[in-house]
Amino acid sequence: MTMFPTKVKHIQRLLQFRTTAWCSPSLGKATYSRLVLGIETSCDDTGAAVLDETGHILGESLHSQTEVHLRTGGIIPPVAQQLHREHIERVVQEALERADVDPCQLSAVATTVKPGMALSLGIGLEFSRKFVRQHNKPFIPIHHMEAHALTVRMLQPVPFPFLVLLVSGGHSLLAVARGVDDFLVLGHGLDVAPGDALDKVARRLSLMKHPQCSTLSGGQAIELLAKDGDRTSIALTTPMGKINDCCFSFSGLRNQVTMIIKKKEEEEGVEEGALLSCVNDIAAATQHTVATHLAKRTHRAILFCKANNLLTCSNPTLVVSGGVASNQYIRKALMVITEREGVSLLCPPAKFCTDNGVMIAWNGVERMREEKGILPPNVDVCYEPKAPLGVDMTAEVRAAGIRLPSVKITIPN
Ligand code: KG4
Ligand code: ZN
Repeated sequence: MTMFPTKVKHIQRLLQFRTTAWCSPSLGKATYSRLVLGIETSCDDTGAAVLDETGHILGESLHSQTEVHLRTGGIIPPVAQQLHREHIERVVQEALERADVDPCQLSAVATTVKPGMALSLGIGLEFSRKFVRQHNKPFIPIHHMEAHALTVRMLQPVPFPFLVLLVSGGHSLLAVARGVDDFLVLGHGLDVAPGDALDKVARRLSLMKHPQCSTLSGGQAIELLAKDGDRTSIALTTPMGKINDCCFSFSGLRNQVTMIIKKKEEEEGVEEGALLSCVNDIAAATQHTVATHLAKRTHRAILFCKANNLLTCSNPTLVVSGGVASNQYIRKALMVITEREGVSLLCPPAKFCTDNGVMIAWNGVERMREEKGILPPNVDVCYEPKAPLGVDMTAEVRAAGIRLPSVKITIPN
């Protein structure tokens, strides 16, 4: 990423003093606020939104590719790229129209540039580069996980520092958020992400063929079917039980579940691709094991934070976000831990947990307020498919070797 310090200063001054007048449709009177357009294309959602400085959503639009990827049996990067290409202009236009905002009224454009799928990130970045040059607007490159972590602050005041668990189709991460761009990473995924594991289990179970699940993402389908399942009828081992750190692993769990599915197919005398009669039980056991793994790692992160005074003593808070965080069972499992440890648990509503343009625009607002990472329109920015979020503390966490007290995670369906 290249920056020109003098130009950056000039833009920052512009941002500091310029306010945009617009007419609030609900109030019918002129309101003064800086407006940010947010654009998201890091994976399989094309999202855009216009927010004012207070976090008020003026207009948004989202095109989800889930249905296409369900039909092709997973995300094929060039397919995702083509769909972003086909929809980005309309999605951005729609967000601006719904907000009743002309591009000239924007104070900045914020776009996800890392981490994510290269081909998908490229479409959002290319579109944004042209847009900011055409309209002569400052550009704010956004880290997708930073945006997930900060979304909660758009909905309610949550002071730094707080602990954040981010769980999605591409990531699992535990970090202390100390500021808008200041994170201490306590744990991260070592292989597949929890959402990816759930998506793959759902595909192996052919849940697309299930009448209640044909349009649902893998995680949503597993959550729905688990409600009528008996998790205790399938034995699964929680990953990394003997490793006292806060990192995550879901590939072993996926293998365990695949073996069980094969065994059940033999027992029921059906071919791969047919719906098993015990599909609800497998969903329930898988969901419970994912929830337990997440809860245990989070429990250790809370204890590490307490031992090292990393959170506020008055109201220590855990924020959970990312697509998998919309799962109610997982939220309840985390609540067992937070209640035990006297920590407040905050989860944005499901529509703000999954990818969208709003969270990117909000991250832009947060950065604009603090004048952090605001670039002039003609600056060269590259996308980064892999990008760490902050300072890596995983070695310190491992060295602390914190043993967990035994906690029973029992959640009624
Ligand atoms: O954050 P997100 O929209 O996109 C990424 O950045 O990955 O997360 C999508 C992931 C998918 O893997 C999906 O199966 C999972 O979130 N997901 C869920 C639920 N809803 C979406 N997983 C478990 N339970 C849910 N209710
Ligand atoms: Zn995401």
